[in-house]
Amino acid sequence: MNTDSSPGRRPVVVIGAGLAGLAVALHLADHVPVVVLAKRQLDEGATAWAQGGIVGVLGSDDSIESHVHDTLDAGAGLVDEHTARFIAERSADAVRWLVESGVPFSEDPTGPLGLHLTREGGHAVRRIAHAADATGKAIHDALLERARKHPGLTLRERWMAVDLVTHRHVHDDAHLDPTARRCWGVYALDIDNRRVETLPAAAVVLATGGVGKVYRYTSNPDTATGDGIAMAWRAGCRVGNMEFIQFHPTCLYHPQERSFLITEALRGEGAKLRLPSTGPGDPGGQRFMPAHDERGELAPRDIVARAIDFEMKKHGLDHVWLDATHLGEEFLKSHFPTIHARCLALGIDIARQPIPVVPAAHYTCGGVVTDLEGRTDLPGLYAVGETTYTGLHGANRLASNSLLECVVLGRSCADAILGAPTLPARILPPWDESKVEDADEQVVIAHNWDELRLLMWNYVGIVRTTKRLERALHRIKLLRDEIDDYYANFRVTRDLLELRNLVECAELIVQSALHRHESRGLHFSRDFPQTLPVSFPTVLTRPARSRDR
Ligand code: FAD
Ligand code: SIN
Repeated sequence: MNTDSSPGRRPVVVIGAGLAGLAVALHLADHVPVVVLAKRQLDEGATAWAQGGIVGVLGSDDSIESHVHDTLDAGAGLVDEHTARFIAERSADAVRWLVESGVPFSEDPTGPLGLHLTREGGHAVRRIAHAADATGKAIHDALLERARKHPGLTLRERWMAVDLVTHRHVHDDAHLDPTARRCWGVYALDIDNRRVETLPAAAVVLATGGVGKVYRYTSNPDTATGDGIAMAWRAGCRVGNMEFIQFHPTCLYHPQERSFLITEALRGEGAKLRLPSTGPGDPGGQRFMPAHDERGELAPRDIVARAIDFEMKKHGLDHVWLDATHLGEEFLKSHFPTIHARCLALGIDIARQPIPVVPAAHYTCGGVVTDLEGRTDLPGLYAVGETTYTGLHGANRLASNSLLECVVLGRSCADAILGAPTLPARILPPWDESKVEDADEQVVIAHNWDELRLLMWNYVGIVRTTKRLERALHRIKLLRDEIDDYYANFRVTRDLLELRNLVECAELIVQSALHRHESRGLHFSRDFPQTLPVSFPTVLTRPARSRDR
């Protein structure tokens, strides 16, 4: 690891190797040295799991206005129109950049750029570029290959950012200068060598993804523990709209596959939601979405997920069915090969049987507040991707807008970093392990992980009440005290750091939910079922407090 702190040699440190991190890194690397950290394997993250695709306003029947309209509509009154327009206007370029980077999108010789476009819930037209049903992997493989070959870019696998360095030493002595608050670098755990290093940086980019793992049932990978949001919050940055956690309506219901998504594109191509048998004499098979929304299965996600939750609770069901049998084996195998094969391996032939599905936590609409160039409240600190709150997603994200946001704002963030003045290098406070020892009881961490995720699922899920939220907050604070105590006394491990970040984010989610006295988009409260005529994003601020250790 290059920790050289001489002026001009400090790299930009990008935390995260998903689409957001790689987009920033690849745009920067021709100009400045870049180090990318990934806390697990480089291909682990939400990006490589994305299925449906990425929005591109490309078709002759499409327009920027139409995409902006659909984004605003899905976002239930809280989308920042300027942000939505900025991103929609750059969507065609974003898809073109991916094509030029070697992403093998599904083709259609008659389609724009020669691409096949599919459709998902909430979109007025077909505008989703995709690589069958494994778009994320196709994108990630192509960009990772470019990144590996780039001489200006260093990839560090199994390096986990712990916290941001927000102060510097005055001269060479041990005093911290409180007037010099900016992001000077990052403390990072080299997981294999079990040591924490101080990495000085010309700028730091948080691209750590979302916080789906805070829920018991989620479509998200293990990386999604909200590290960037928690680090930025601890460093004094504002965090916005954390109450809006998107539950994807259709994750596979199967004991061996708790996190497998059944893409919305399947509904886009005509799959229907049906009730299984609700009792003796009922063979099941009745559609229920038309009774909930005139758009049926293609209503925005919050509506579909809530409808499924309602039907499951009403009839005491473990799951509902997603029926794609009428689409035919050939079509399903060619358009949805991953889902077809994965389900078949579990004994479900989707060409002949309906798929058992349940909603699960899927996407973090809120996060670190940034502008359209990724700037956070802390000079020198930028953030891009699912870890941010930019105003694009409002109270509910429109399908396939997330990958797009990563590419568009990844590029503008890189431009902003390149345009920022270079500061001379400083001496940074080293990580202090003098007062800690090796943890004695790992079981405490495992137990608290389970407890936190279960209580978030039960008390802070699709349908909320004030009483449940208050109960959750009470439990979270107790867990937090225990974890803080553990953190103060024991050497850090990935599990401990992730739990610390999860509990921080859980508190932000609950605090934000308690602030909102209405139901809107993904936040539904039985105590405040009405949608207020005027509403604002929830932005939380915490006084800055250094956690440099
Ligand atoms: P990620 O891709 O999650 O990458 C995060 C990176 O940060 C990882 O490399 C991780 O190791 C690293 N990291 C995290 N914490 C640390 C730390 N402390 N130190 C070092 N490294 C760290 N969106 C769409 O637009 N279209 C889709 O079709 C679509 N399908 C989806 C399907 C699934 C199953 C899921 C889960 C999501 C889907 N989404 C989709 C959402 C989309 O995939 C994500 O929002 C997007 O990929 C996020 O990219 P990211 O770069 O912000 O984060
Ligand atoms: C999906 O393929 O259903 C996921 C799309 C998304 O999350 O945008």
